[in-house]
Amino acid sequence: MTTDAPGLAAEPLLCVRDLRVVIGGRHILHGVDLDVAASGVTALLGRNGAGKTTTVRGVLGLVPRTGSVRFAGEETVRLATHALVRRGIGYAPEDRGVFAALTVAENLRLAERPGAGEPAYALVHELFPELRQRAAQRAGTLSGGQQQMVAIGRTLLNGNRLIIADEPTKGLAPKVVTEVARVLERAAQAVPVLLVEQNLALVRRLAEHCVVLADGRTAHRGPAADLLADTGATRALLGVGRHTAAAAGGGSDLSTTSRKADA
Ligand SMILES: Nc1ncnc2c1ncn2[C@@H]1O[C@H](COP(=O)(O)OP(=O)(O)OP(=O)(O)O)[C@@H](O)[C@H]1O
Ligand SMILES: [Mg+2]
Repeated sequence: MTTDAPGLAAEPLLCVRDLRVVIGGRHILHGVDLDVAASGVTALLGRNGAGKTTTVRGVLGLVPRTGSVRFAGEETVRLATHALVRRGIGYAPEDRGVFAALTVAENLRLAERPGAGEPAYALVHELFPELRQRAAQRAGTLSGGQQQMVAIGRTLLNGNRLIIADEPTKGLAPKVVTEVARVLERAAQAVPVLLVEQNLALVRRLAEHCVVLADGRTAHRGPAADLLADTGATRALLGVGRHTAAAAGGGSDLSTTSRKADA
């Protein structure tokens, strides 16, 4: 397993070292190292409860953290969330965070950031034509996939320099997963993406680099294709392969195994 970050040609856009998070006296992260490449998709993987969401929340200053979080060359670990957002980090959270009582248009409007230039509605509507058609619909009445489009759409409005998407395909029908994947692929051509994802088929399609967490620590970093080609490593790090091979068409969906195991 690699401990450096091979294959990153350019200086990483986001460089996290020894990230530690303690919540309510409980040590949740014990030393996460993570580099997000300056282009394309970097995947953040790990079994349920490994600390992926806490890592993302730590990067964004949504939980108290220590360590080093360098974004575009600047140390940001002491900055508040609003300052990080202003520096150009867009976040589509695990629960999507849409305002159910507001319309699609209102949800997008709330995400506009004064001083960030003209909001990129043309891009958002090009990628998600449905959001224009459903502009007046209350977000609470949208399907999960459509809500995800609102969540990702918001991150594309403000010319962000990095997009962080936490399990954007969780609970979505296969057809919608494909649609969200296509959008992430397009978005990543313009803006680097840190993608928390359990669907390994999607990781294979989108991600160049990956970081795997286990028990609140970085357990592996390297090219995504190398990890996914190594059945022993995916089994050891992600717990896939053995149980999912028959059920999930080659064990491509990590959540199938781990969520069952949780139940
Ligand atoms: N606010 C909190 N208070 C106490 N424990 C927490 C809190 N947030 C997370 N945890 C715990 O920290 C661990 C890591 O949680 P986290 O949500 O980061 O995992 P994850 O990798 O995102 O999991 P999943 O794949 O299920 O989304 C879990 O054991 C979780 O129960
Ligand atoms: Mg999570």
